[in-house]
Amino acid sequence: MIEKKPIDFYYFSGTGNTYLVVKAMKDAFEKHELEVNLLPLVRFTESGFNENNIVGLAFPVAAQGTYPLCWEFLNKLPQVNGTQIFMVDTLAGISGGIVGPVKKILRKKGFTTIGAKEIRMPSNYFTKGKNKEKIIKMIKTGKGEAKKFADDIVNGTSGWARIPVFSDLLSLLSKSNMVWQFMRKMTNIKLDTNLCTLCDLCEKACPINNIVLKPYPTINNRCQLCQKCIAVCPTEALICAFKNKDGKAYTPYRAKGVAPDELID
Ligand SMILES: Cc1cc2nc3c(=O)[nH]c(=O)nc-3n(C[C@H](O)[C@H](O)[C@H](O)COP(=O)(O)O)c2cc1C
Repeated sequence: MIEKKPIDFYYFSGTGNTYLVVKAMKDAFEKHELEVNLLPLVRFTESGFNENNIVGLAFPVAAQGTYPLCWEFLNKLPQVNGTQIFMVDTLAGISGGIVGPVKKILRKKGFTTIGAKEIRMPSNYFTKGKNKEKIIKMIKTGKGEAKKFADDIVNGTSGWARIPVFSDLLSLLSKSNMVWQFMRKMTNIKLDTNLCTLCDLCEKACPINNIVLKPYPTINNRCQLCQKCIAVCPTEALICAFKNKDGKAYTPYRAKGVAPDELID
C-alpha cells in the first residue's frame, strides 16, 4: 500500500489521449480517497514543487521517446530524498522502452520509483482512414488499463521494468535536434486560410509559444509536432500532411470526450 498522501500529477497531452488516461487514474485514486492535483507540466516551477506529496508523471510517446518539452521537464525536477513517483505514457505502437531512461533520471534525482506503465491509445499522427469504432474501443481499453494501473499503485503491486542499454540508446533519438529537424522536414502542418476564423486558440494552446498570428497563425521553426494546435482548431483549418506523400493530409485528431479548452494549459 502507498502512503495516504496527496498526488501531484504532472502531465502533458497534445491531443487528449494522455489527458483521458490521467483523468481515469485520478478517478481511480479518488475512489481510494486519495487527493489528486492535476498539474500541466509546461507550467512546472521548482518553487511550486512539493516533495512531500506523491508525484505522478504522464506524457505521450514521440519519436520512440517523448517530446523535447517533456525531457526538459524531467531534467528540471529537483533533487529529492526518496519522494515516491510513478509514470504513465500513451503510445500508438512502440516506444523504445522510454520507461527505462526516465527511471534512470528519476533515481539519480533521489526519487523512489513505484510504478511505470505504457498504455496503447489511438495514433494521433497516422490517422488517415482510421476506423471510428476501433478508436472508441481502444480508448475504452486504455482507460480501463489506466484505472487498473492506479489500483496497482495504491495496492503496492505496480512495477517499473527497465531494459538497460537498448532503451537508453533509443531514447537518444527523441533527445536529438537532428531527429526533430528531420521530422519537421517530413511533416507539414498546413493552414487553410479559408477555414481559419482567427480565433487564436492554436496560438494559446501551443505549449512552447511557437505560433504567432500575423494575422493568420504562423508556425515557427521550433515546432515539436505534438498536434495540439490541430486538436484545438474548431474549424479543422489546421491539418497535418506528409511532404513525401504528394502533400496528402491526415484527419485532425482529438481524443473523443476531450473539449478543446481542456487542452489549453
Ligand atoms: C510527432 C509524433 C510522434 C509519435 N511517435 C510515436 C512513436 O514513436 N511510437 C508510438 O507508439 N506512437 C507515437 N506517436 C503516437 C502518440 O504517442 C499517441 O497517439 C499518443 O497517445 C498521443 O497522446 P496525446 O493525445 O496525449 O498527445 C507519435 C505521435 C506524434 C504526433
